[in-house]
Amino acid sequence: MNEYDSERMAEILEPLNYFPVSEPGKADLIILNTCHIREKAAEKIYSELGRIKKINLSSKRDTKIAVAGCVGQAQGQEIINRAPMVDLVFGPLTYHQLPEMLESIKTEKGLPKKRLVNIDVPDVDKFDELKEPRKSLKSISSLLSIQEGCDKFCSFCVVPYTRGVEISRPANQIMKEAIELIESGAKELILLGQNVNAWSGKGLDESSWTFPRLIRELSQLSIERIRYITSHPRDMTDELMRSHKDIQKLQPYLHLPVQSGSDRVLKEMNRGYTFADYMKIIDKTREYRPDIAVSGDFIVGFPGETDKDFQDTLRIVEEVKYAHAYSFKYSSRPGTPASMMENHIEEDVKSERLKILQDLIKQQTRDFNKSFEGKEIDVLIDKPGNGEDRLSGRSAYLQTVHMDGKASMIGQIIKAKVSKSRDNSLECVIS
Ligand code: 5AD
Ligand code: SF4
Repeated sequence: MNEYDSERMAEILEPLNYFPVSEPGKADLIILNTCHIREKAAEKIYSELGRIKKINLSSKRDTKIAVAGCVGQAQGQEIINRAPMVDLVFGPLTYHQLPEMLESIKTEKGLPKKRLVNIDVPDVDKFDELKEPRKSLKSISSLLSIQEGCDKFCSFCVVPYTRGVEISRPANQIMKEAIELIESGAKELILLGQNVNAWSGKGLDESSWTFPRLIRELSQLSIERIRYITSHPRDMTDELMRSHKDIQKLQPYLHLPVQSGSDRVLKEMNRGYTFADYMKIIDKTREYRPDIAVSGDFIVGFPGETDKDFQDTLRIVEEVKYAHAYSFKYSSRPGTPASMMENHIEEDVKSERLKILQDLIKQQTRDFNKSFEGKEIDVLIDKPGNGEDRLSGRSAYLQTVHMDGKASMIGQIIKAKVSKSRDNSLECVIS
């Protein structure tokens, strides 16, 4: 989502004659687009600001420094107080006001610099205000935000406080943006949302559309592939599961965070489903689309997590057999209910559990990749690879694929045979 927001900021700034530069020392404006989801991510901005300060001092430019994203939203004035070099702080809901914000921090020579914090929740949705046509930096695989914010209030998560309430963009806006992206060369659309499968909105015919209906309509456009991230198990409808069978362009990949395999922990997390509910979704989706690659997110060391709870997490991983998954140590976030719970888990216990879980997931990814050896797959070639006449692409299952080939093939879907599987990629030979 931050990647998407960064692209949009670049598009807003282009008419004001701001263009990307190759290194921060050459920039007139540096925007740090930040993430607040875990403590480590949030802390990064201060070390990054320190690095920029050094570069900037040596370049003698009067570079404006902005902190955007969810750390901006959550910390606001605190950033201005802690980091005197920062001129501007704003959040994910106000970046469409960048031109006005830049105007108001313009400082005349010799006068003290003007600084601004803009984190109020605006009356007007930013998507209604963003008028620049989408170019997505000419990506073969383009991000398209269709839903933002979250009302689920998982007890560990800051997103509902930083990204705001859940909104679904109307279908006409989404279709228009999709067409612009396709015209600029997109072959794949990645539909984005904190709870993307909770999308429901006004359709082109004024009736209310479901998320699968939106995917179906998008699949009528001249696009090759469609994906969506990230989904919540509570919003996995039968219609959506079936779409993986019925809509050919919808790729066989499902990122469905489970977070924990323990029913007790899931309840404390306020996730709204059990181990059995989650398994039912996976089994049903695989009935419709047996080859679907399943991915997920996990948190280990949630407050009060016992050894038995953790064993349940390992058990769900064993049952699902993930193609890929992300896992994190629980990180206490200010203002969330879980941060106020008792029985926080020792750091070394969290680390030990994370290692065990990651080893298991790694093995599953390896097995998944190995099962493709010798098979022919479709690859969307999206960029040059490392080295001359090397290409990089993605399988339908979102595996990274490397192969020999000419740069003129970028943007095409080609058939290729898997000659070798690695832990995190496939080596292929064009058929
Ligand atoms: N601590 C650790 N991981 C978290 N996530 C969200 N909040 C926290 C937290 N406080 C993880 C969840 C989520 C992913 C985007 O980040 O697994 O799905
Ligand atoms: Fe955070 Fe996702 Fe839970 Fe929303 S559903 S509160 S974004 S973890």
